[in-house]
Amino acid sequence: MKFFIDTANLDEIREAQDMGILDGVTTNPSLMAKEGITGEKNILDHYKAICEIVDDNVSAEVIATDYKKMVDEGKTLAKIDDKIVVKIPIIKDGVKAISALTAEGIRTNCTLIFNAGQAILAAKAGASYVSPFLGRLDDMGSEGLVLIEQLVQIYDNYAFETEILAASIRHNMHLIQCAEAGADVATCPLKVITGLLNHPLTENGLEKFLADYNKGKN
Ligand code: G3P
Repeated sequence: MKFFIDTANLDEIREAQDMGILDGVTTNPSLMAKEGITGEKNILDHYKAICEIVDDNVSAEVIATDYKKMVDEGKTLAKIDDKIVVKIPIIKDGVKAISALTAEGIRTNCTLIFNAGQAILAAKAGASYVSPFLGRLDDMGSEGLVLIEQLVQIYDNYAFETEILAASIRHNMHLIQCAEAGADVATCPLKVITGLLNHPLTENGLEKFLADYNKGKN
């Protein structure tokens, strides 16, 4: 399973990268705005800075919503670095843009996926990744995990090469359940990644080991 971090915060990206467990980064316009990154040049420079930290898989989202502009914007983003994956929403022009960018060898991440039909279209268009938003479905009282399970089954039925990138992961159980369901990738905030470390028996056990070691020194 690949781990991506879902943030545009460079310190958090560095922290996850330093742990040696990071496979990529996902951003979106809301996450960029949260870091105060606005304006085309600043946004492009910020993607460049992220690419300097991680080894691969930096999702950069297009703002355009019509086919031609999406393709142009996708190409501009892809030129920043080979690590860029162009993130495109699942709308009709988006599907066309994914097909066109895929034909040119540019990797894409089809975002804002909320049902299996959308994910089938994205895979047919050749998206490298598809991003079902687990937490936002849960917010609406519809079980997000069921969508992940459906996608694993459907993509397996037809050997689609598109990877399932579980997104909008809010807590540790989301991440663990996605792993059980067979999602290829989980993207989540740093606190979910570091939260996987927590267990009181680990903390107590370590405290006792160190106390016993120190007793032996006297
Ligand atoms: O990767 C998508 C993610 O950023 C959405 O997360 O928590 O805003 O639903 P959230």
